[in-house]
Amino acid sequence: MLDVESPPGLSRGAGRDLVAGRGRAPRVGTLRSVSRYYITTPIYYVNDAPHVGHAYATLNADALARWHRLRGEEVFFLTGTDEHGLKVAQAAAAAGMTPQEWTDRLSARFEEAWRELSISNDDFIRTTEERHHRSVQAFLGTIYENGYIYPSTYRGWYCVACEQYYAEAELAEGDCPIHARPVQWYEEENYFFRLSAFEERLVSWYEENPEAVRPGSKRKEALSFIKGGLQDISITRRSITWGVQVPWDHDQVFYVWYDALVNYLTAIGYGVDAERFATWWPVAHHLIGKEIIRFHCVWWPAMCMAAGIDPPAEVLVHGWLLVGGEKMSKSSLNQIAPSDLVADFGVDAVRYHLLRDTPLGSDGDFSYEGIVARYNADLANNLGNLLARVATVVGSRCGGVGPAPGGGRLASVAAAAVAEAVEAWDDSQPHRALEAAWRLIRETNAELEATEPWKAEPGPEVDAVLGSALEALRIVSLLAWPAMPSACSEVWRRIGMPGHPESSRLPEAAAWGGYPGGLGVEKGKPLFPRISSGQAGAARG
Ligand code: MSP
Repeated sequence: MLDVESPPGLSRGAGRDLVAGRGRAPRVGTLRSVSRYYITTPIYYVNDAPHVGHAYATLNADALARWHRLRGEEVFFLTGTDEHGLKVAQAAAAAGMTPQEWTDRLSARFEEAWRELSISNDDFIRTTEERHHRSVQAFLGTIYENGYIYPSTYRGWYCVACEQYYAEAELAEGDCPIHARPVQWYEEENYFFRLSAFEERLVSWYEENPEAVRPGSKRKEALSFIKGGLQDISITRRSITWGVQVPWDHDQVFYVWYDALVNYLTAIGYGVDAERFATWWPVAHHLIGKEIIRFHCVWWPAMCMAAGIDPPAEVLVHGWLLVGGEKMSKSSLNQIAPSDLVADFGVDAVRYHLLRDTPLGSDGDFSYEGIVARYNADLANNLGNLLARVATVVGSRCGGVGPAPGGGRLASVAAAAVAEAVEAWDDSQPHRALEAAWRLIRETNAELEATEPWKAEPGPEVDAVLGSALEALRIVSLLAWPAMPSACSEVWRRIGMPGHPESSRLPEAAAWGGYPGGLGVEKGKPLFPRISSGQAGAARG
């Protein structure tokens, strides 16, 4: 059932090495000609509060935005809320509020959730904003003038929970294939987008831009959907008023998806600031969940073409966070508020777990046992323990002053970890980058256990071992900073480094030998005290 949801979709990635300078950061060791990165999350429906599935999506985008900033690129990171459509209007009515009152309240909860998770977005867009209405009207008005929109009669099935039309053949025993709930029959006079005119152009775009939808499996899905034949789609609604008014027919509003996708353009000045738009659009990267591939990898590139702009540089598709095998969603009971997790584990541990546990592109299973186990193993026993023991021994053997690093095996272990983490972050694979950073932590702990500097007499050998461990901690605080900004800044401060990890430039700053020695090292309280599963579970009941 999980994979039935999106019609053969699409996707694959990234506008990396595409045409003329668009795309993402170059690989390690290559000349960096691209200095900008625009990353977006989907805009979230405000029919209910944010849950951990949304947090997973936004966190991945945040970590990538932070990584590209560490790379020295100029970054624009956008998230926001999708506030029109029937689903939201119905949620407002059920709560006895006007849609505007309802969306004001719910949108604020998303902003608050992102603050609690240290999300570093540069803008937060709401589709009810005036700037967005203007840009939707300009964008779709252009497509209309270009002759790709025409009036006709729509007849078909609609699932309000998906805000999506379904062909008879796509239904599961007459119900919505995702929600397993009854669909509604619609028949109205409205406007259609000539999607069928873009079949060949879309196929050529996929062929010319093999990295435009990632991972490859999603690219294939999208491409086979396109090759299966595209039908024109209804893009306006006469029967509802909660939406963006169609500029050439004031009795209709745009179908919610047509208004929503345009948010990516609104936020960078489409139609009002040509220079700003030209700066950011060529480096646009959309991070999306796997059930909205058809919208982002078929409709959206076709709409861009119809309006005379390039499709986005990359669509990066992630899987779902599941609980007990089911998608965490607003309509199921197993939803978990991100703030509950932050209260139990702290923001950096939640960020680390979500990014480390599920490879971007795969589904992941979320459980309390899982996060407790990873917290204790990776954060308390590995990173936390390394920092505590190094600080303690520097206190007892070196008078609290950190020595400069030696060379030897750890230097080459670190070089390999840095190369792999940089490559993984550049490739939008946070879990792999963190895995590489933790390999360095484990090897450093092993080196300490092998040399036992706490038993040795103070001297140059002990200094070299401790200096190398401090250098490994410095490097780890850079490699893991996009995932755990506060904890990494704290490690940085405790080992005596001035400033913050984020003022460094990678990969240069992660080269071995950057820890100068002669800095005061502070032990402080345990960074990640061990948690028993009873403790964390208790808060959840
Ligand atoms: N409003 C549309 C998106 C419009 S973008 C122009 C929408 N909203 S949504 O709130 O239903 O979903 C937003 C994103 O959250 C989707 O990418 C979806 O995959 C993601 N997730 C929702 N639940 C999720 C999980 N359980 N796990 C991972 N991501 C999940 O679709």
